[in-house]
Amino acid sequence: MRALSRAPAKVILVGEHFVVHGGRALAVSIDLWATAVAEPSPQLSLESEDPPGACRAGECAPHLRPLHAMLEDMVADHPRALGRYRLSSGIPQARGLGSSAATAVSLAAAALALAEGDAPRDDVYRYAMISERIIHGNPSGVDPAVSTYGGAILYSKSEGIRRLSVGPGELVVCCGASPRSTAAMVESVAEFRRSREGLFEALMESSSDLVARASEALESGDVASLAPIIRWHQGALRVLGVSSPELESYVAAMESSGMAAKLTGAGGGGCAIGLGDAARGDPRCPSAMIMRVHYPTGGVESWVQS
Ligand code: PMV
Repeated sequence: MRALSRAPAKVILVGEHFVVHGGRALAVSIDLWATAVAEPSPQLSLESEDPPGACRAGECAPHLRPLHAMLEDMVADHPRALGRYRLSSGIPQARGLGSSAATAVSLAAAALALAEGDAPRDDVYRYAMISERIIHGNPSGVDPAVSTYGGAILYSKSEGIRRLSVGPGELVVCCGASPRSTAAMVESVAEFRRSREGLFEALMESSSDLVARASEALESGDVASLAPIIRWHQGALRVLGVSSPELESYVAAMESSGMAAKLTGAGGGGCAIGLGDAARGDPRCPSAMIMRVHYPTGGVESWVQS
């Protein structure tokens, strides 16, 4: 018997960083996936293909420790989750597309499916947050929410998850070659807030209002109203200090081919997104990796094979 699962990556359209401090974010699941396979075994073990690594007999590759800690908690609650776990992922890592959350979500779903034959999404989300807290320190929770429930989500810490009704769309995602740390970027924004409290509060208030408007525009398919809100947020993220020369060059290239563009996720490197009709054309971006992705997808899925 074995359990299989998959969970989607996400793109934050607007609201990253502010969401950590209580603001709103609008995010969609995209068609890049992390997968997990689980089989019963008397020992808990975890292997990952990319980046390669393993946890066996108490020895753990550093990048797998948070996931292993999550599995230990899950086995304590669900003894039949004891097993051998294997991970693989088609999501670029540490670039702003929520790869750590998608991996944690798919692993939690595989563990619950192995133990109980079923993986209720609220439980998957709760366990995935264990790993996310270890990795990111102070995560808002938006990444595992989108990866677990799928679709388009309007999220804030106080208002929780609001699922939106959004038709299919395409985005261009343009990513640099080097990974960066979400925790370091989140800390740099916390430092900005400590030193310029009033400015930060004013930006966050405007952002939250604009994110609510962006959600309405996305639901009604009004990309023309979304574009200025995307551009406003790229300016705000630049003010917060999380853009970079590389990201600015991606944004400029996508803007010059007619898209509304901004960085996505924690910034400091990683990926930028481009939205608009021109996303269907031949996108230009001076980056190592350029992808066309589709949104929204379904959320996490799991299966049991006997
Ligand atoms: O870069 P990512 O995929 O880890 O996204 C981070 C989004 C932030 O808002 C910067 C952090 C968070 O916890 O919401």
